[in-house]
Amino acid sequence: MVRKVVLTGDRPTGPLHLGHYVGSLRNRVELQETCEQFVMLADIQALTDNMERVTLVQESIIEVLLDYFAVGIDPAKTTIFVQSALPALAELTVHLLNITSFERVRRNPTVKQEIQERNYGESATAGFVIYPVSQAADILAFKTDIVPAGADQQPMIELANETARRFNRLVNAPVLKECEGMIPDVGRLPGTDGKAKMGKSLRNAIYLGDTEDTILDKVKRMFTDPGHLRVEDPGKTEGNVVFTYLDAFDPDRAAVAELKEHYRRGGLADSVVKRRLSEVLVELLRPMRRRRLEYAKDRGYLECVLREGTSKARAVADRTLAQVRDALGVNYFSGLLNSR
Ligand code: TRP
Repeated sequence: MVRKVVLTGDRPTGPLHLGHYVGSLRNRVELQETCEQFVMLADIQALTDNMERVTLVQESIIEVLLDYFAVGIDPAKTTIFVQSALPALAELTVHLLNITSFERVRRNPTVKQEIQERNYGESATAGFVIYPVSQAADILAFKTDIVPAGADQQPMIELANETARRFNRLVNAPVLKECEGMIPDVGRLPGTDGKAKMGKSLRNAIYLGDTEDTILDKVKRMFTDPGHLRVEDPGKTEGNVVFTYLDAFDPDRAAVAELKEHYRRGGLADSVVKRRLSEVLVELLRPMRRRRLEYAKDRGYLECVLREGTSKARAVADRTLAQVRDALGVNYFSGLLNSR
């Protein structure tokens, strides 16, 4: 049986956090057992809003790779590669841009929100606005079946599928393939301050590499129910980040249900719930941190993983680009000019 192809990626702009874990990393660890999985370090996409921080992006490649090892992504089962080493993706992007309407790109809700969050206004660059088309190229280059990603990536997946259909109709051949998103149903993990999104610049994230002390400190300062002033008061569990996290991470569902009931009734201190969450998170993250530190010691091995993964991924993307060029009929002169 042919295995399904999985492709996903992360922008290397710093280490990964619990939001990434819930949104996608957790699924990848399972998918690698049964699928042909590719994971991309999306440094080119990271540059769409980091042209002044190229060094940060380049250095973060290793940070994110360490996070992959930390959660259990295994390079023997998953091909890990660096986007900038695959020029085929850039050319594919250009061809896809020609069959995507400008208005279609401008309507992308995730990009709109990012432009707002970053206060770009009218100065959003063309490269930033069209990055979903580049992401469609990433997805389509690998003949992807499944994209495990957070809910904010759904519009990108839809665009990729629309683009595949439009391309195939144009060339009248099934060259590109449609895919499915694998979006976790827990929804997006809020930041520790209760804001909708966990983010580096928002300083409300718990990182996979955080030490025990840092975790305890972040949990201690976590947003709960502002109306829960005295221990005896009944408290709200919805919108209470501590409970949202317990829902996402505590394997003991019954204990969580009991805590919730007690909290709503009144008489349960925030500090008790926080202590439980600290235990759960420390237990989850301790082995990750250990693996992270272990792998960080061997830079040579890390580079070797990237070299091998990238060379395998490059062959796949090159093959798809060759098919796309063929289907479009742009191969005649470049073939002539390249032959020796
Ligand atoms: N946009 C994704 C993010 O911000 C990263 C990404 C780039 C990606 N290319 C991809 C995800 C292809 C899935 C598939 O995290």
